[in-house]
Amino acid sequence: MADMVTPFHVGIIMDGNGRWAKKRLLMRPLGHRAGMKRMLSLIEHAFDRGVKELTLFALSTENLSRPKEELDDLFGLFRLYFTQHISTLLERNIRLRVIGDRSLIPQDIVRLIEAAERDTAAGERGLLTFAIGYGGRQDIVFACNKAVREGKEQTLESFAEKLSTGGMSAMDLLIRTGGEKRLSNFLLFEAAYAEICFSEKMFPDFTDEDFDAALIDYAKRDRRYGKLK
Ligand code: FPP
Repeated sequence: MADMVTPFHVGIIMDGNGRWAKKRLLMRPLGHRAGMKRMLSLIEHAFDRGVKELTLFALSTENLSRPKEELDDLFGLFRLYFTQHISTLLERNIRLRVIGDRSLIPQDIVRLIEAAERDTAAGERGLLTFAIGYGGRQDIVFACNKAVREGKEQTLESFAEKLSTGGMSAMDLLIRTGGEKRLSNFLLFEAAYAEICFSEKMFPDFTDEDFDAALIDYAKRDRRYGKLK
């Protein structure tokens, strides 16, 4: 993979945890747990492959209408992550950022997120972003309202800065696991020219090798950005 074009910014919609569990006659929380285990390894692998920005869709605004028991379980996993796994990011010099509406999630998790963002702020090797309580359309409206308050016409660049992803680069490669072929309100503005890779595998089954296959596929794509070559 040495001379390959590596995408700078990769996004992953980690879908299929529930179905993974159902297929094994397990409860859905066990699917999320298996997903989190897979995610931990995939984060390290992606940065080892030279990806500089990795954005993971952990909970959409719409997911917040799931039953309370499922949400409580997911919030439990977030608490576990933000208390036990930040040291790995520090060791690896990776900065953490969380995007999404923080008023929609428990405030003790918000405090853990703030601490993790502060502690990893100097990380220079890469940027790991979790989208939690995030919706792409809501984020665009939020940015529009900022622009209205500013009272100035916007350029693409100045508008992009007002999104919660402000300062990040546009997405190069978007991977969705779980067999569905849709964006589900993830990074709508930022993924305008992303190459998209859909995997039939449920997220807990999506291996490091599957990730590499997506990188190889990406390297073969002809990115024309609507122009003629
Ligand atoms: C979608 O699968 C997945 C989620 C809603 C949650 C994903 C969360 C993790 C992998 C853990 C994240 C941990 C941190 C710390 C950010 P689904 O439940 O929609 O699966 P289904 O489509 O098969 O029902």
